[in-house]
Amino acid sequence: MSQDNKKATTQTTGHVWDDDLEELDNPLPRWWIWGFYVTFAFAIVYWLFYPAWPVANTYTKGIAGLNNVTYVATKADGTQETKTTHWNMRSKLMVEMNELKAEQKQYFDKVASKSFEEVAKDPELMQFVNSAGKTLFATNCAPCHQAGGQGKVKFSPNLTDDHWQYGGAYENIETTIIAGRNGVMPSFKAILNDEELSQVSSYVLSLSGEPHNADAAKLGDAIFHGDKAGCYACHGADAKGNPAIGSANLTDKIWLWPDVLGAKTPEAKLTEVKTLIYDGMNKGVMPVWGARLKPEQIKLLTVYVHDSLGGGK
Ligand code: HEC
Ligand code: HEC
Repeated sequence: MSQDNKKATTQTTGHVWDDDLEELDNPLPRWWIWGFYVTFAFAIVYWLFYPAWPVANTYTKGIAGLNNVTYVATKADGTQETKTTHWNMRSKLMVEMNELKAEQKQYFDKVASKSFEEVAKDPELMQFVNSAGKTLFATNCAPCHQAGGQGKVKFSPNLTDDHWQYGGAYENIETTIIAGRNGVMPSFKAILNDEELSQVSSYVLSLSGEPHNADAAKLGDAIFHGDKAGCYACHGADAKGNPAIGSANLTDKIWLWPDVLGAKTPEAKLTEVKTLIYDGMNKGVMPVWGARLKPEQIKLLTVYVHDSLGGGK
């Protein structure tokens, strides 16, 4: 294509560099121009209606901002103040949060005024318990008890089964949450020798049908119920535990501290139990929530643990 032909079909600014390097000057596409005008129009309408331009130390409020809104805000020191201000995105959000809180408060008030059993029987309230309880549980409890409340061996108890160290009635669970728990079992390293530890551990294993040496277990039975070790004083003569002090039921298949179910061989199971009795137990602490959560939140969580997680008694 020759230089002249090109000039006839393409618009240029007329600038030429290096003999043949030209600057093109094509018109913008029509749709683009119109789109551009529309954004102008939109901006002007927006300025009219909504807060937009800074003016001195305030700003234009727009037509929407002519309406004042009032909302309750919580200050940094925890006290509440009522604020009245013109409409803006922040006050809009605050008003919506206030409405949500007011709606929640209605339900919390209902939970607070009813008995545990009445709450559990009310399908509408239980819907609220399920959703608010899930959030409260996720924030405060799940870090230890896991998202579904299933707990973790050697760390925190399962809240979804019907085995309760401290009792599974509503009142027991509420007390646990308000005051916290810290079950303590003494160390037996200075009281029982290695053989006796093996024997009493064999007896503990025998109680829930785990593989064990029957002769050793028989001797262990005497240690368990004897006064030198005095296991029975805390765990009960039937070894079923005492909810008042949280001593575990040793006759079920639920193990929190020794990982008996996870241990593959009978020797490994024995070692798990022996180690616990040798060391004693003063770790896993259930924190106190009475000061951190409101009474109605604790009540709601109690129903959530008892009924929604499904392990209540
Ligand atoms: C820091 C970890 C931790 C957090 C957080 C925690 N727990 Fe616990 N919880 C434990 C431990 C550990 C135990 C067992 C205590 C023991 O055996 O002495 C326990 C025990 C319990 C029990 C008693 C179980 C039984 O068998 O009797 C309940 C109920 C419970 N927790 C509910 C909750 C709820 C509800 C929350 C949230 C408000 C919560 N926990 C938060 C660690 C925690
Ligand atoms: C002073 C009371 C006390 C005495 C005495 C005591 N225990 Fe315990 N035991 C506890 C408590 C409380 C727990 C639960 C600890 C916790 O969950 O924080 C426990 C837990 C256990 C566990 C773990 C159960 C599980 O599922 O995790 C075993 C096993 C056990 N004890 C066996 C024994 C044996 C055997 C003896 C005697 C040699 C004994 N205990 C003496 C209070 C006692």
